[in-house]
Amino acid sequence: MKRIKAISHAIFVMFIFSLSARSCGQEDLDILAPMEKAEQEALYSTIQGFVGDSWNGSDLYPDPCGWTPIQGVSCDLFDGFWYVTALNIGPVHDNSLSCAQDLEFRQHLFELKHLKSLSFFNCSQSQYMFPATIPTGNWQKLAGSLESLEFRSNPGLIGNIPSSFGVLKNLQSLVILENSVTGEIPSSIGNLIKLKKLVLAGNYLTGRIPDVFDGLNELLIFDLSSNSLSGSLPLTLGSLTSALKLDVSNNHLEGNLLNQFANLKNLTLMDLRNNRFTGGLTLSLQEMSSLEELVLSNNPLGGDVRFLKWENLKNLAILELSNMGLTGEIPESLSELKRLRFLGLSDNNLTGNPSPKLETLPCLNALYLSGNNLTGELSFSKDFFGKMGRRFGAWNNPNLCYQIGLMSSSHVPYGVKPCQKEVNLLESDSKTELINGDMNETFHFIASKGFSSCATNGFWWTFLEKILMMGLFLSLI
Ligand SMILES: *[C@@H]1O[C@H](CO)[C@@H](O)[C@H](O)[C@H]1NC(C)=O
Ligand SMILES: *[C@@H]1O[C@H](CO)[C@@H](O)[C@H](O)[C@H]1NC(C)=O
Ligand SMILES: *[C@@H]1O[C@H](CO)[C@@H](O)[C@H](O)[C@H]1NC(C)=O
Ligand SMILES: *[C@@H]1O[C@H](CO)[C@@H](O)[C@H](O)[C@H]1NC(C)=O
Ligand SMILES: *[C@@H]1O[C@H](CO)[C@@H](O)[C@H](O)[C@H]1NC(C)=O
Ligand SMILES: *[C@@H]1O[C@H](CO)[C@@H](O)[C@H](O)[C@H]1NC(C)=O
Repeated sequence: MKRIKAISHAIFVMFIFSLSARSCGQEDLDILAPMEKAEQEALYSTIQGFVGDSWNGSDLYPDPCGWTPIQGVSCDLFDGFWYVTALNIGPVHDNSLSCAQDLEFRQHLFELKHLKSLSFFNCSQSQYMFPATIPTGNWQKLAGSLESLEFRSNPGLIGNIPSSFGVLKNLQSLVILENSVTGEIPSSIGNLIKLKKLVLAGNYLTGRIPDVFDGLNELLIFDLSSNSLSGSLPLTLGSLTSALKLDVSNNHLEGNLLNQFANLKNLTLMDLRNNRFTGGLTLSLQEMSSLEELVLSNNPLGGDVRFLKWENLKNLAILELSNMGLTGEIPESLSELKRLRFLGLSDNNLTGNPSPKLETLPCLNALYLSGNNLTGELSFSKDFFGKMGRRFGAWNNPNLCYQIGLMSSSHVPYGVKPCQKEVNLLESDSKTELINGDMNETFHFIASKGFSSCATNGFWWTFLEKILMMGLFLSLI
């Protein structure tokens, strides 16, 4: 009896031990681990610089890596001592450290010798009253450890991207997103050969994109969108052979599209919209066989839309080619892109009669052909117009009309005249009826799951939202 009790007791103890070992064993040991005084002081001072002098770390968090952890600070053990490995400043969680208005980068930051990850979110708010700049010196002290450096949504963060970032050889993620950073992109970023993510979007960067990307063949995300970058695309973009996403939209870039795009076999998203690219479509585009989203709209590119073998881009789900000065007839090969959900060809100089084969695209949810010089009779079926509703756009094609047989249905394409001349589309009664019908159609469409087999990612939802907004907007005017 006694023995059984002893054994069960032993098992119980072992059970408890293994339980605690699994869930928090590291911590049990760690609480006993010390932190070097210098490391602790450097941490307190660094944070105090960010959150303000009234913050007294040694009072509030006497054991910052042990039993009084600081929200946003992570630590790890090296040779039996605690070191700070991650520092996240800004209101990510309810109890996160919030920044002082007059953010200060103290030199103590660079004494945190095992710091792997540093991020600032929604920190510096006013570029006029309390501007902050990224420090330029001493980054080499973090060169061995720093893997991730992120500044997100800090409108008060001004000044340049320090060229000294080029020493951070272990950096895998450099994100400077939606701040007020100015100046040129330093060519030293070409040294960051371990980068997987380079995001400098939403700042006031100017000048050319440096031609320094030939070593960055691990890069997955390249996003320089929404700046004031100018000049032509650098040829070494063609070295980003691993890249999944390339976004330089909303800049002042010019010149031709690159032949080197053909190397980007894994790219799934390319967004070049709202720039000044010219020289027509390049054959290299049809070599990017992984492309799911290709957005080139609002560029004076010109040239014939039939130049490419569109059928090669089998994975395309979103193709946005509006307002590009494209000429020629709508290529029938587009109807071979069985995954296509969005096709935008508005505001070009397209001619001819749209092929009814586009209707056979099983996932197509939006087709915009407005503002061209398409001619003849739209020969899509009544069901197709019904399914698409306001997501079919063909207005502003003066020589286009719809079949008179559709007249009885509420699904006449908006802004297109019937092939018989005498009915006036803009008679107020028929217009209201049309709008109500379409609105209902749109919401009904959203509520139904009819398209879920085709919708696979979030990007599409933002697109869909924009389209809906556009539809609502149009129906209000
Ligand atoms: C924090 O508080 C301690 C004790 O209350 C004090 O000795 C120390 O000077 C304070 N540190 C700062 C930076 O205010
Ligand atoms: C950022 O901070 C400002 C004020 O400091 C606040 O009004 C805003 O909601 C914050 N934004 C986010 C996304 O947390
Ligand atoms: C492209 O993607 C495939 C599959 O994900 C991967 O095996 C391959 O290494 C990638 N190519 C490059 C150049 O990264
Ligand atoms: C496109 O059409 C507009 C008028 O609609 C015309 O001014 C322009 O020259 C045309 N461009 C091309 C490339 O055909
Ligand atoms: C549209 O095309 C027709 C011929 O199909 C042509 O006569 C007309 O000039 C074109 N209109 C514009 C604005 O290019
Ligand atoms: C809107 O759609 C619903 C469901 O399809 C239908 O019952 C209703 O009558 C429609 N309303 C209008 C105004 O067309």
